Amino acid sequence: MNKSQIPAAQKDVLSLLLDDHKEVKKLFKEFEAEKSQAAKEDIAREACMKLTVHAIIEEELFYPFLRAQNPDAFGDLLNEALVEHGTAKELIAQIESASIEDDDLYEAKVTVLNEYVAHHVKEEEDELFPKAIGKKVDLRELLTPMTERKEELIQSAVAS
Ligand SMILES: [Fe+2]
Ligand SMILES: [Fe+2]
Repeated sequence: MNKSQIPAAQKDVLSLLLDDHKEVKKLFKEFEAEKSQAAKEDIAREACMKLTVHAIIEEELFYPFLRAQNPDAFGDLLNEALVEHGTAKELIAQIESASIEDDDLYEAKVTVLNEYVAHHVKEEEDELFPKAIGKKVDLRELLTPMTERKEELIQSAVAS
């Protein structure tokens, strides 16, 4: 999805989410290319943390806002998105509680998480976000709450 073509009413909020998607995609690529086991585990943990924060701001703020604006237009897509988040979260929990040295399936888990996330992100970028634009949902009031919540979640993840 090309940020420069997003109208002003959706631009900042969708850009924030698109940047997150890109960042996580990049981390999965780094994971694949990295040779050191310890560094791989660090990258996987960072990807899990970023995905968790991203899913929370979507679930707490972005999805409910869209649903409230137009339940008929967004309901089914958002329900599917929540189920997809649920599956990803289970895998994230497994990865976060495992260590790459002790778990023979560690890399496979990260690979499958990457695949789940790629599928989910594609649906958001190809269906959900264009629908928010098409339905002219004004997302601007979400920018500050989403930015602040994201910052707060990152701070507490870093602190823990
Ligand atoms: Fe999502
Ligand atoms: Fe997303």
